Amino acid sequence: KDCPEEFKKVELEPLPAMTARFLKTLNQICEQCFSTSDLFLSVFFLGQVFHCPSARLQLFGSSKNGFGFRQSDLDICMVLDGQETADVRTRSWLGILFSLRNILPITTAKVPIVKFYHVRTGLEGDISLYNTLALHNTHLLACYAAIDWRVKILCYVMKVFAKMCDIGDASRGSLSSYAYTLLALFFLQQRNPPVIPVLQEIYDGEKKPELLVDGWNVYFFDDLKALPGRWPQHGKNVETVGQLWLGLLQFYTEVFDFREHVISIRQLAPLTTFNKQWTSKYIVIEDPFDLNHNLGSGLSRRMTNFIMKAFINGRKVFGTPVTSYPPEYPSPMEYF
Ligand code: CTP
Ligand code: MG
Repeated sequence: KDCPEEFKKVELEPLPAMTARFLKTLNQICEQCFSTSDLFLSVFFLGQVFHCPSARLQLFGSSKNGFGFRQSDLDICMVLDGQETADVRTRSWLGILFSLRNILPITTAKVPIVKFYHVRTGLEGDISLYNTLALHNTHLLACYAAIDWRVKILCYVMKVFAKMCDIGDASRGSLSSYAYTLLALFFLQQRNPPVIPVLQEIYDGEKKPELLVDGWNVYFFDDLKALPGRWPQHGKNVETVGQLWLGLLQFYTEVFDFREHVISIRQLAPLTTFNKQWTSKYIVIEDPFDLNHNLGSGLSRRMTNFIMKAFINGRKVFGTPVTSYPPEYPSPMEYF
């Protein structure tokens, strides 16, 4: 999050075009915040070996969407200019990258991922190949975060709550941070009056514009300056973050019918689990773009109960007034 602006989009140019200035910048960036210069250079070098015009690394996830903490990992997506999708040859890049760095490959994920840990900075990172939809949902989340300052705080709180209760790690059978962010955004859309609109439902004319990526429509209204004129409820909700947080816990423990409905931030009208044929799971969260993706699909019954209990307990704890802060509790500020 403290990265210099240039690091956020490092362009890796073909060798002949690479200037001393480019190398210097690359090294400076790597030294300053993330000394993985070999990694960047190896991506670049392999680009030459495989005659790919250029490779681009782009940040997504919480380092870009506005919902990051100091401990958040670094989500990086690699794409090659001139190649629409990752083919076999591109995937072999990752194999070579593994031997160059002590990196952990995750081949069971939806897109191939290389995980790494950087000892000096303590940063954890993921490099995924062609996670293009993630770049779009990162932009969508960033727009929601920019609409109202309370959005960012509430989503932070939601993520800290999930981490503290041990229910926020998809690789260990629970839900990802991304899923909890969607949960918080959905609540803010359903609140009366709403805090945020459904950006995917705001457009000119009769028909929603089509912007296809990997076969899914990634259109959403991102002209935030024009939003007040396009969304009549803008600024109507004046609740405090505390009220909203309690409201969220109450919503997911007393109001929302998990059996009937899907948590879906792409439309305001209720979406049923029956409609989606997703009736075998209790917590059903639809990805805003990849409509076949239920983020709760990996939850066991046991984990679902554990998550629901955390919410019920949270509702009880936060809903009970306290006069002093118990000193033995870890400070939530450690997460920021
Ligand atoms: N993502 C996705 N589908 C998932 C999980 C994640 O598309 N099932 C993408 C999203 O773009 C998300 C990014 O991967 O923003 C990173 O996911 P995650 O690490 O769970 O969320 P962060 O917001 O980065 O949270 P943290 O701060 O805990 O790293
Ligand atoms: Mg992340």
